[in-house]
Amino acid sequence: MRKNIVAGNWKMNTTVPEGVALAKEVNEALKGADKKCDVVICVPFTHLVSVADVIDQNVLGLGAENCADHKSGAYTGEVSAPMVASTGAKYVILGHSERRQYYGETAETLREKVALALENGLTPIFCIGEVLEERENGTYNEVVKAQIVDALFNLSAEDFGKLVLAYEPVWAIGTGKTATAEQAEDMHAHIRAVIAEKYGKEVADNTSILYGGSCKPSNAAELFAKPNVDGGLIGGAALKCADFMGIVNAF
Ligand code: 13P
Repeated sequence: MRKNIVAGNWKMNTTVPEGVALAKEVNEALKGADKKCDVVICVPFTHLVSVADVIDQNVLGLGAENCADHKSGAYTGEVSAPMVASTGAKYVILGHSERRQYYGETAETLREKVALALENGLTPIFCIGEVLEERENGTYNEVVKAQIVDALFNLSAEDFGKLVLAYEPVWAIGTGKTATAEQAEDMHAHIRAVIAEKYGKEVADNTSILYGGSCKPSNAAELFAKPNVDGGLIGGAALKCADFMGIVNAF
């Protein structure tokens, strides 16, 4: 059966010493906690090795926020999936809307990234979600379906089963404007139906689908109570241990 997961996405925040201190604090807080979900932090590339050193990955999983669409070679400034895996990280966020929007990531590059992540034993946390205009003009279900079909439906059922999905409506990211629990549930049920159509009910039922976008301790419980919402991908609130733990404890 699918897992409940709360994953932090630190984005481009914290220096290495600040990040190590935050990771330690979260790891400590989780040790004694009676948590009902897996907990992961996805941190900047520069932080991975140092953070891996100070956390117990049986308690707190570690991931990167991106990886390259090539294995190795003359790609100055890029960080490959084998490099990420060699730090001890087990997860990688792929297709975040900020990467799609500011760095031109397309379905084609994302297919390469997903393949390389899987080849290197990383679990992709694959992000999808519509922009405000698409929410308002009612095309959001088709937009999200196309994001899944175009980047992921080349995978075998076995490989698809290794993914975690994150629905992040772009209009809710960093805006303080959360999707209502009903909007999230409707979209998550739609996503599960799209998966079932291609890979069957069992694969769909076993896929964890996280919600992301202004998720905080005050709204997490209502979101996570929905049957198709299997946790959260947390931006701003992942940068304060107390807030992040408040969301973890919402399960
Ligand atoms: P916020 O939680 O800051 O809205 O960010 C969500 C997000 O983009 C996580 O990937």
